[in-house]
Amino acid sequence: MTRDNSSQIEFWNDRPGRSWARHSDAVDAMFAGLTEALLDASAPVADDSVLDLGCGAGGLAIPLAGRVPEGAVTAIDISEPMIAVARQRAAEAGVNIRFIVDDAAACPLEPESFDLLVSRLGAMFFGDPVLAFGSLRRALAPRGRIVLGVWREPRENAWAMVPVSAARAFLEIPPRPSPEEPGPFAFADPERVCGILENAGFAAPSCAPLDLDMPVGEDIERAVEFLVEVGPLASPYAAAGEADRRRAWEAVAGALEKNRRDGSIRLGGGCWIVTAGVV
Ligand SMILES: C[S@@+](CC[C@H](N)C(=O)[O-])C[C@H]1O[C@@H](n2cnc3c(N)ncnc32)[C@H](O)[C@@H]1O
Repeated sequence: MTRDNSSQIEFWNDRPGRSWARHSDAVDAMFAGLTEALLDASAPVADDSVLDLGCGAGGLAIPLAGRVPEGAVTAIDISEPMIAVARQRAAEAGVNIRFIVDDAAACPLEPESFDLLVSRLGAMFFGDPVLAFGSLRRALAPRGRIVLGVWREPRENAWAMVPVSAARAFLEIPPRPSPEEPGPFAFADPERVCGILENAGFAAPSCAPLDLDMPVGEDIERAVEFLVEVGPLASPYAAAGEADRRRAWEAVAGALEKNRRDGSIRLGGGCWIVTAGVV
């Protein structure tokens, strides 16, 4: 198992990072419920200094900046294409965010400089999570806190399972990484997550479940277009031939028919809201 983050750095700077950046508005619509839950759980106060881990295109960092008018938001990510979009969106929103393009496990962040570390789905990609979170803990002030949104098991996440099951017959879906390897479901086991945080020096870690009904498009066409470019189908779909792509598209469209609710196509998501303190 790889312990460094080089393959993730390559991944998020390649097609997947560009697709996430291009679909940043759809990504934020999909994760709106998670964003609200993270803002509620982190309860930022006006002068907090906040670090957004794996900030992507800024979907959490930008609303956070509005919650800390006398504080500061720093947002770190390894993905150049996503940070480029985040910078542009922050400028359009008129908020001041310090963006850092670097590996959060290796970046020399100033010790004890943050009150709060938050992350919307950006915490599960470290080759050595204890090392990474140990380093991030040193950047938190005494009495600092962390609030992470992470995915639970794949079977609790229809947004991943429904498209993959539908398209599996037509695309080369790679085997799922083992639960300890970096990837979207690496923090699915709450015991593992709490163990990582305790070993990294955090106090009283806990995981609270959050269930989401997430919009993935206003209609079937837009939902399929999104799901074949962002998420577990993206790489297999890009690698497939024309005919298999067309069959996969139709299969996903068919599977989504029963997921029309409240004016959009919706898929379920199961998260943990992970919290811990620094003592
Ligand atoms: C699933 S995306 C989530 C992006 C964003 N937080 C959002 O919710 O839209 C995961 C993000 O984590 C970032 N990431 C992965 N490994 C990282 C690392 N070692 N240091 C900093 N960012 C990392 C990726 O580049 C990517 O932007």
